[in-house]
Amino acid sequence: MSKIFVDACKGLDTPYTPVWMMRQAGRYLPEYMKVRGEAGSFLNLCHNPQKAAEVTIQPLDIVGVDAAILFSDILVIPDEMGMDLEFIKGQGPVFHDPIKTEEDIDRLLGGEEAANKLDYVYDTIKLLREQLDERGDEIALIGFTGAPWTLATYMIEGQGTKTYNLCKKMMYSNPELLHKILRKVTDIIKLYMEKQIQSGVDVVQIFDSWAAAIEPGLYDEFSWSYMVEICDYLKEKYPETPIIMFPKGVASFIERGLVYGNFDVFGVDWGTPMALAKEKLGDKYVLQGNMEPCRLYSKEMTTKCVEAIQKTMGGKRHIFNLGHGILPDVPVENAIHFVSECHRVSGKK
Ligand code: CP3
Repeated sequence: MSKIFVDACKGLDTPYTPVWMMRQAGRYLPEYMKVRGEAGSFLNLCHNPQKAAEVTIQPLDIVGVDAAILFSDILVIPDEMGMDLEFIKGQGPVFHDPIKTEEDIDRLLGGEEAANKLDYVYDTIKLLREQLDERGDEIALIGFTGAPWTLATYMIEGQGTKTYNLCKKMMYSNPELLHKILRKVTDIIKLYMEKQIQSGVDVVQIFDSWAAAIEPGLYDEFSWSYMVEICDYLKEKYPETPIIMFPKGVASFIERGLVYGNFDVFGVDWGTPMALAKEKLGDKYVLQGNMEPCRLYSKEMTTKCVEAIQKTMGGKRHIFNLGHGILPDVPVENAIHFVSECHRVSGKK
């Protein structure tokens, strides 16, 4: 039996449209909070393959999604490069010693050395592969990485930012240094994705959460071209492993024809009309998305949106998802409602 989610990524006909949710393993689930409590912290949970596998599987049983996404975080890469990640309550991820100079980036681990330090991620995947195969329900496992640009924003700013002023100062006044950071991170990501595939993921997704911070005319130079390079590397070695690209906030880039590359699925964010994505990209790529995640606060608004997306996509070359991550205060029953509505409108028996 083949996995419905993998078939859908490849653009094959499936008996219904599969669905998963970005951030589907997380704080809206009391079961997740319990395991995180046992682990002691979010990062401890990421470092513990047994527990990380347990929370990866939770949304399959509780919410009924058609794919599992590896439980980890995009920021484990700079952490293992030597940047010492800390999650501070109420503030989010923090790097206390952000990159300011060439010496700062030279000091960090790169290549195989950095990729090998992420062994707990590969161990989690191997464990998940066994557990998912044992279940026999043909659920696909999605691996992931942050895009080089999105990782660089945290490495330069030291934390989340509204203005991106430090990275943009570098982009416009010292672009060589920004490229040096992007190059080092890209080279690690290629190996990291490769090792995830070798460990057993079926599909990989690249999250460029902060794509919209770059002006459209420079997006290719500072982000997309590096993402495409990662795709080319993986496609040459693992042509059968589908790749999902998720650059967030890029409706204007789509209109300008800036989306190209050797990948399978384009993740549509909630600010981009599905009809626009379909018109511009639907022949070339399978589309994933794109309900505004805050619609999950209302079952009625969820149903309306799922029906509208189904009407636009017609059950073809489509994977249901949110247009960004689910928020922690969404009632679990509303997430279940979203998934069952996606299945209902697309004819799951
Ligand atoms: O279920 C899944 O989607 C898999 C696990 C996953 C997490 N983070 C777990 C997590 C994935 C795929 C990510 C990706 C990630 N992490 C992104 C890209 C996707 C996006 O949302 O745009 C980004 C930008 C990050 C960085 C990050 N991690 C931030 C900014 C934060 C703090 C904000 C917040 O939501 O608290 C995290 C923490 C984080 N990553 C949590 C989870 C479940 C919450 C940690 C906790 O348990 O308190």
